[in-house]
Amino acid sequence: MIKYIIEGGQELHGGVTISGAKNAAVAILPATLLVEGKCHIENVPDISDVRLLLEILNDMGAQIRRLTPNALEIDCTRVRNTTAPIDLVRRIRASYYLLGAQLGRFGHARNAMPGGCNFGLRPIDQHIKGFEALGAVVEQSGGYVTCDAPEDGLKGGRVYLDIVSVGATMNILLAACLAEGTTTIENCAKEPHIVDLANFLNSMGARISGAGTDVIKVRGVKSLRGGSYSIIPDQIEAGTYMAAVSAAGGSVTIKNIIPKHLDCITAKLREMGMVIREDGDCLHMEKTRRLKRANVKTMPYPGFPTDMQPQIAVCMAMANGTSIVTEGIYDNRFRYTAELNRMGAHVQVEGKAAVIDGVRELHGCEVRACDLRAGAAMVIAALAAEGTTIIEDAHYIERGYEDIIGKLTALGANIKRIETFDPQPAVAGVG
Ligand code: EPU
Repeated sequence: MIKYIIEGGQELHGGVTISGAKNAAVAILPATLLVEGKCHIENVPDISDVRLLLEILNDMGAQIRRLTPNALEIDCTRVRNTTAPIDLVRRIRASYYLLGAQLGRFGHARNAMPGGCNFGLRPIDQHIKGFEALGAVVEQSGGYVTCDAPEDGLKGGRVYLDIVSVGATMNILLAACLAEGTTTIENCAKEPHIVDLANFLNSMGARISGAGTDVIKVRGVKSLRGGSYSIIPDQIEAGTYMAAVSAAGGSVTIKNIIPKHLDCITAKLREMGMVIREDGDCLHMEKTRRLKRANVKTMPYPGFPTDMQPQIAVCMAMANGTSIVTEGIYDNRFRYTAELNRMGAHVQVEGKAAVIDGVRELHGCEVRACDLRAGAAMVIAALAAEGTTIIEDAHYIERGYEDIIGKLTALGANIKRIETFDPQPAVAGVG
């Protein structure tokens, strides 16, 4: 059991360096299963989701060496195991990428259905539709998914996604790299981590074009070889620190970012009154006045990311006037608002919209992190609040934020982490 104790009311000052992108890393690590040879991967975030995936790969027979805290060498040449350890797989939603990679490499994959009820149903029907378009036979029963390629292997196919899905786009890419012929994925997602996965695979010898647009073509190759790659910076981690400065105040430089990936977040915070200056791979942020109200609707990239919805809502909770947040991706990503209201916010949820009446001050109390981004929102609220906040279930936050305690402390925050032994550890099954 991990809890954070935060003394709020301090401005943030200084610089913070952004780590590698979680949602790129959790696809690139399973992708190493497709490669014959050593993959040298840099800028890998040291977060619990990554550690869990490494444990899964290790269990399957991958040879893994940690070269530095953020650089790994992974060699899956000798992996023969087509089943991942189920107890670990259930703990991380991104384990669904093992299905595409195992199917592509071995022609067979069997895995537990990924969890993910924390913000509504999260089916994987579009992933399965893609595998079937490549000729695989997919069966779902008893909480498991089993995929089998035909005897003569997967063949390139055409798939039009009914829903713009990050996971389905990446999973079909993984399965298609070694299939015979050309695969076309239409209406695909365009997130930066999709481009990053395609760049990783291309640097290992794949032939993928169009990543970052809504049509991706994969020309199948016989094999992938080892190589070196560096993961892009995390758009959502950067956005989270931007929201933290906007709520708590101060002046902070966000370093090691790709400003283009943050355009919609930067634009929204500027609209709310933040002073933001771009400078190469840095953004300088300064709060010079109380935030102004704004509306936001989450959408697939390049729209405003759902993974920043709880964090921007905290900024709105302290802004001048009434803001509306509309969730466009998930059915139920507002559970955190009950916790925020305990801190003195005025948020009312009506279906897929939250109406937020800004207040001048939040006050510290005991709250829960309901999931990863909800937990990040609680940290931001606690930094901005008067008094002490205790955040329970903070293990969720550590799934996706590298060294959040160290980074915030360096910015002047007063934050402590307390870990106690829990005989029945919580299962973190989303992301
Ligand atoms: N959907 C379907 N069928 C599918 C796939 C998706 O109906 O086969 C629906 C989902 O239920 C959802 C929408 O389509 O309503 C979009 O889901 P998507 O597949 O894009 O999400 P995901 O791949 O499951 C990834 C991230 C999430 C992030 C979403 C959206 C990873 C491991 N997870 O999830 O990240 O919210 O894309 O951008 O990459 C997080 O980092 O906190 C997180 C939850």
